[in-house]
Amino acid sequence: MKRGTYRAEIMAVIAALFALAGPARASGSAYASGASVFAANCAVCHQSGGQGVQGVYPRLAETIGRWVKLPAGRAYLVHVVAFGMTGAIVSQGETYNGFMQPWTQLSDAQIADVLNYILTGLNAQILPASFRPYTAAEVKRLRAPSESFDQVRAERATIVKAPGPSAMLPSAARAH
Ligand code: HEC
Repeated sequence: MKRGTYRAEIMAVIAALFALAGPARASGSAYASGASVFAANCAVCHQSGGQGVQGVYPRLAETIGRWVKLPAGRAYLVHVVAFGMTGAIVSQGETYNGFMQPWTQLSDAQIADVLNYILTGLNAQILPASFRPYTAAEVKRLRAPSESFDQVRAERATIVKAPGPSAMLPSAARAH
């Protein structure tokens, strides 16, 4: 086989691989992307079903979904992933005093996808019906300017308390 032909064949194979990769990536849903970001980066601590490890890594399943109703809660979830958090928090009556790194290496789209996955996939029972998925543009806006660990923790303290326990329940369960 002549060298030129060989090279042409390699180029054809590479082109075919790119052609395959294009549609495959495009058809992969944002949900699947969020699931893979979660599996690769978060499940090691928060566990694959988001159940956490009692007293060590807080539970994300059927817990954080109640906060997205509040604009401050929506912002907090982006902030805690983008900027990390450390210091004592109480989740489900249990104190956690750990450290979560800022996920600076995740893109705006990856943070949107992973939060949408945790919320729609792992918080389905408590997610308000009005929930609108995060977009990369929203994450980008909420990611600037940067916050300290203490600021993120202070935000959490505020949304846990305000504006009252009834607002923390999913709309269907709320007494009117
Ligand atoms: C090395 C372990 C570890 C990894 C990996 C990790 N986290 Fe965390 N995460 C924690 C700890 C510990 C806390 C609580 C921090 C504290 O005590 O202040 C936390 C807190 C959180 C919270 C806030 C929970 C609440 O009740 O307010 C969210 C949301 C969260 N993590 C999402 C993620 C996402 C998304 C990923 C993957 C991109 C991830 N975490 C990866 C350890 C981890």
